[in-house]
Amino acid sequence: MKLLVTGGAGFIGSHFIRYWLKRHPEDEITNLDLLTYAGNLENLKDVQDNKNYKFVKGDICDRDFVFDLVRDADLVVHFAAESHVDRSIIDPSAFIRTNVLGTQTLLDAVKEFGKRIHHVSTDEVFGALKPEDPAFDENTPYDPRSPYSASKAASDHLVRAYYHTYGIKMTISNCSNNYGSYMFPEKMLPLFISNLMEGKKVPVYGDGQQVRDWIHVLDHARGIDFVLQKGKIGETYCLGGNSELANLDVTKTLLKLMDKDESSIEFVKDRPGHDRRYAIDFSKAKNELGWEPEMKFEDGLKEMIDWYKQNQDWVERCKSGEYQKYYNKQYGS
Ligand code: NAD
Ligand code: DAU
Repeated sequence: MKLLVTGGAGFIGSHFIRYWLKRHPEDEITNLDLLTYAGNLENLKDVQDNKNYKFVKGDICDRDFVFDLVRDADLVVHFAAESHVDRSIIDPSAFIRTNVLGTQTLLDAVKEFGKRIHHVSTDEVFGALKPEDPAFDENTPYDPRSPYSASKAASDHLVRAYYHTYGIKMTISNCSNNYGSYMFPEKMLPLFISNLMEGKKVPVYGDGQQVRDWIHVLDHARGIDFVLQKGKIGETYCLGGNSELANLDVTKTLLKLMDKDESSIEFVKDRPGHDRRYAIDFSKAKNELGWEPEMKFEDGLKEMIDWYKQNQDWVERCKSGEYQKYYNKQYGS
């Protein structure tokens, strides 16, 4: 089988490609990625010479280019996106362009050539939960509240609209907060790890009582594999990590694992519109696909910290250039 993976040079896409080449060595993968600030071919160094792997630089909004690649593939696995909520608050434009219009371009190509697409989405499309609310599942109404989640919600709606209107072969997964190696240091966990490695404080937004559900990135990659093997066309699957934790508790665990104390915490101005709680009920994926997450959060976090310690040069390279400007704007220099 020939897979076209979009956004494969990013955090989750690169793990997915490595995972897939190992699990399905007979398949061929083309990785289509624009190499934005978040895309990094170093993430795939270990597979770059695999004869079944090919990288193509390009934009998912570039229609002719996308049509040529989709024509040649059996299956599109669509990760490419602008993915960081704080950046969407500073400027939503790139989010609308890539996440909405880019997805539409892929859908047009999938429709034209009768190919299957799996759309990788997020739990943020469902909005925010109160402490007493049940976790999100596939029947939760959409209520996106940041420019990022609104753009992802729009893309999910488009994927479903193309299924209902044109009969394209599609599946969607909505997943919670991923963590692991190769995660760009703008996101909370890698940012906090890299700050602590440099002896800096960690900027906790607001009161730190916002709750996220953490899933190891390889559990996510395996979940997508299960959807591709066993999922029904036209269906959505929620994937979660079974690790609902308040940011402050995650921070305290991190401090303990990195031999730091709470004086390293700095409470800073809250994110505008900060969603209070996300949680995922993944019963459908468990009952219909036989998938459930395997990694325990603290074990995965230890592994992640070790990776960042051993790959400080990777972190430094991510932080040079454009990121430095963003960091100074967001946190002060
Ligand atoms: P990321 O920001 O690390 O990577 C995104 C990749 O997309 C980068 O390699 C970038 O170069 C590429 N890209 C961006 N715009 C492009 C364009 N116009 N054309 C081609 N490539 C382009 O993101 P991630 O965290 O790996 O997330 C991947 C997907 O998973 C996204 O769709 C995101 O919404 C979704 N998701 C992420 C999480 C999470 O916790 N990170 C959770 C659930 C769902
Ligand atoms: O829920 C899935 C989503 O998880 C994905 O769709 C997004 O692509 C991904 O970026 C992630 O979004 P979050 O906004 O939850 O991730 P982030 O790492 O930015 O923030 C996690 C929590 O930590 C959130 O409540 C905000 C808080 N935070 C974040 C940063 C960057 C801080 O307290 N301080 C920080 O400096």
